[in-house]
Amino acid sequence: NAVRVTLHPAFRKGRVDRRLFGSFVEHLGRAVYTGIYEPGHPTADEHGFRGDVAGLTRELGVTVVRYPGGNFVSNYVWEDGVGPVEQRKPFLDLAWRTVEPYLVGTDEFLQWAEREGIEPMMAVNLGTRGVEAAAALVEYCNGEAGTRWADLRIANGREKPYGVRLWCLGNEMDGPWQIGHKDAHEYGKLAAQAGHAMKLVDPSIELVVCGSSSMQMPTFGEWERTVLSYTYDIVDHISMHAYYEELDGDRGSFLASGTAMDRFVDRVVASADAVGAERRSDKKITISFDEWNVWYLESRFPGEKNLPIQRDAPRIIEDVYSGLDAVVVGDLLVTLLNHADRVPVAALAQLVNVIAPIMTEPGGEAWRQPTFHPFATTARLARGEALDVRVTTPSYGTARHGEVPVVTAAATVDDDGALALFLTNRSAEPVEVEIDHVGSALAVHEGLRMLADHEPAVHGPQHAARVAERCWGPVDVTTAVRPAQGARTTVRLEPESW
Ligand code: AHR
Repeated sequence: NAVRVTLHPAFRKGRVDRRLFGSFVEHLGRAVYTGIYEPGHPTADEHGFRGDVAGLTRELGVTVVRYPGGNFVSNYVWEDGVGPVEQRKPFLDLAWRTVEPYLVGTDEFLQWAEREGIEPMMAVNLGTRGVEAAAALVEYCNGEAGTRWADLRIANGREKPYGVRLWCLGNEMDGPWQIGHKDAHEYGKLAAQAGHAMKLVDPSIELVVCGSSSMQMPTFGEWERTVLSYTYDIVDHISMHAYYEELDGDRGSFLASGTAMDRFVDRVVASADAVGAERRSDKKITISFDEWNVWYLESRFPGEKNLPIQRDAPRIIEDVYSGLDAVVVGDLLVTLLNHADRVPVAALAQLVNVIAPIMTEPGGEAWRQPTFHPFATTARLARGEALDVRVTTPSYGTARHGEVPVVTAAATVDDDGALALFLTNRSAEPVEVEIDHVGSALAVHEGLRMLADHEPAVHGPQHAARVAERCWGPVDVTTAVRPAQGARTTVRLEPESW
């Protein structure tokens, strides 16, 4: 049952697009208000954005942030969120049944992203609105002076176009919960028309068409095929969304979430390529995995329609994470890296407070959840090209995903030749992994690991710090990593670890 990972510098999957390390800020709960934005907070800047959250966002290594939703975007009237703040009217957001004060809108968000060196990814409302509003928003953001919407931006104080490159054509339009939900034909036609108009405003933009909200959707597959049959020539990416959780104490299945994600990507790629093949097209549609994470959705979330109407940034879906969740997040990143050739964009959903790696208290501290660490480490180290890693590993049986590998691996080589190797051990036993690095010996510079725990996750900075102390830290490379003969190294992986 030897586990072997073979790395060959010449076997490469493709360049790791930095946009793979994106995240997401929706007008939902406390993601915006008391999340990224809280005027009066001791760390707030002159624009009202929290300095502590911005600092942690930088440390997390987030490259792209998707905005303003999510379900929220499907009833968003973007024009109401621009212009003098004192003239903006509170809006009843039906997606999360919350009164949205519109203190943060397009300009505030885009300027925050610009100050933080983050690429924005904007979504347009294709639920309650359509072609005209979508094209107008692109013009507002990217247009040069001399036309109506670009001039409105300038009148609102922003001369230079923002140059937003990534645009989502709505959000989860296959979901019956979505405001303005559509069938695949209705949505495909609308997305094609809106996308066409948006690219006429700015041909340099990249468009993301909605794929399925999850692989469990009854329309999965058929949805991708139909939607792409209308939009193939117009869009660049198709979206994927997936959330994973431990259900019924089934730890083995939960630890194998990365395998479920892997199969999901393969199936969406197959669906997109089938449409391309029928059209005899050389174009390849790539994937924007713009919502992924651990989310206790089935087991803890009451559902949107059971939320009472609330004001003042209510606490909605503030999942608290454990070391186990963090190991799964690390393993999901392994999967994403192994699909670097077809997945250039991804977003950990979300960034702050709402199923997030960063938590805050209003007026108080901001802290890292356990899931912060594998994300920040991968974003820091996974650079350059992803290698086509070969893994020989035993498998184990799971109730939800059938047979899955015990050990998973991904690797990248940066432009200076530095190798980063990411490994997960999903079993409850330690595993010795023999790494065969064809061509050269390895000198190990740094090792880090996350351990799963059996403790229930508890809200608060002290608990998060205790989990980090127990589960997260450097690997003692002198004992864990042993050079064997020639280009071979052995690494010991602790039970249920990333
Ligand atoms: O990220 C939370 C929600 O999950 C988003 O609003 C929606 O797109 C998805 O269902």
